[in-house]
Amino acid sequence: MTSILMVCLGNICRSPLAHGILESKLPKEQFYIDSAGTANYHVGDQPDHRSIAVAKTNGIDISQQLGRQFKVSDFDTFDYIFVMDHSNYNNIIDLARDSSDIAKVKLLLEIDERIENKNVMDPYYGNLSDFEAVFQLLDRACDILSRQLQSDL
Ligand code: 4NP
Repeated sequence: MTSILMVCLGNICRSPLAHGILESKLPKEQFYIDSAGTANYHVGDQPDHRSIAVAKTNGIDISQQLGRQFKVSDFDTFDYIFVMDHSNYNNIIDLARDSSDIAKVKLLLEIDERIENKNVMDPYYGNLSDFEAVFQLLDRACDILSRQLQSDL
């Protein structure tokens, strides 16, 4: 089993989308996907209603996900930890215990060489079209990631 964690700040907008999108592209028997936030603002909350709506429009149900905060033991549980922006990266690296923890953490958009800005913008204070743009960005990155992960097996 390969395990992958998607991380953003609140775990209600970006990482639940990345979690649902990647899960939809990989066989469940071989890949465990989860998401978490660096902050504890939305522990136990459903994803933002706009993330749920945009996912649903694109055929993915993320409504059953519940927010949780990243914990140090996630470095042991997960093979790969993908963060949405540089601020998430710094927050997670601050919790790393050693070089093997650090090596697991990557900016998700590093995988898509066509994208120059490696930050997935936070749509929380934006509108539905910002959420749709985030979905498209994540969908492309997860497409590349799912192909790479399956060719690594
Ligand atoms: P996310 O967006 O990190 O993509 O889940 C945010 C959600 C909530 C907050 C900030 C960002 N907040 O400040 O509550």
